[in-house]
Amino acid sequence: MSATEFSAGSGSGAGDHRPRPVVAVVLVAAGSGQRLGYGMPKARVPLGGEPILMHALRGVVASGVAQQVCVALPAGDGSLRQMCDDFKDELVDGGPLLTVVEGGGTRAESVRSALSALEEGTQAVLVHDAARALTPESVFLRVVDSLAAGALAVIPVVPVVDTVKTVEATRDDDARIAPEIVVGTAPREKLRAVQTPQGFDLDTLLKAHREVAGFSEAQAAAVTDDAMLVERLGIPVHAVRGASQSLKITTPLDLIIAEGLLEGPLGARWVEG
Ligand code: CTP
Ligand code: MG
Repeated sequence: MSATEFSAGSGSGAGDHRPRPVVAVVLVAAGSGQRLGYGMPKARVPLGGEPILMHALRGVVASGVAQQVCVALPAGDGSLRQMCDDFKDELVDGGPLLTVVEGGGTRAESVRSALSALEEGTQAVLVHDAARALTPESVFLRVVDSLAAGALAVIPVVPVVDTVKTVEATRDDDARIAPEIVVGTAPREKLRAVQTPQGFDLDTLLKAHREVAGFSEAQAAAVTDDAMLVERLGIPVHAVRGASQSLKITTPLDLIIAEGLLEGPLGARWVEG
């Protein structure tokens, strides 16, 4: 596909006629799923009878925001690669280009692997966790609309319902009383839980990821999302509304909740338009 053909796919923002950038979605699916404990990569774990990755792929494509979807898979996973190949046949004319790469040992490495396979002409990138298999289309649209309005970085967020405290390990004598002691209470009204897809101007995200090259192993391990790399550059990160059904399937309980959402009376992508 040429850069010209690639650009031709970019549409207009729904209803407001703002031109949308040429968007690629990076779908990171290369994790091993240790906490889910299925003994297989999480992307392959069945949800409502289909692998988690299939749900995630369908959601991205249904949102209609992407000219390219680049999936980072666990190294050497022939079964997921085959599934992606089969999915290409489901894509109608005018649908996104589907690219597959091998992920890395950390999430950030998987993101970088996918970024290196984006088409010429890509202007913006959405980085999305395959583990958030039920993210509604509306969240993708809010993120892309914010990019179209000028954001260089934008994340979907939801309010935090629990009171959040910072703690430290208790020392010496006090350890008999309890393992940790509270050192502060965060102001809950200002806290947000962060989801994906996180949207970025492509050059901004590439620059943010280049900084990681100078990180120590501990610093690299602490990179849990892409927005924090952009924050380090001093670039504003904007926030739009996420959705509670966009949960990250991490533990067995999350999988039960996701199954429940799929089986609910209104289907998977119901609430919170
Ligand atoms: N991911 C990735 N490459 C990695 C690690 C994670 O592409 N080396 C992806 C996962 O596939 C997932 C997303 O990043 O879609 C969020 O990661 P997480 O929920 O932690 O998934 P896993 O790393 O698979 O789970 P665990 O940490 O329990 O092993
Ligand atoms: Mg992980």
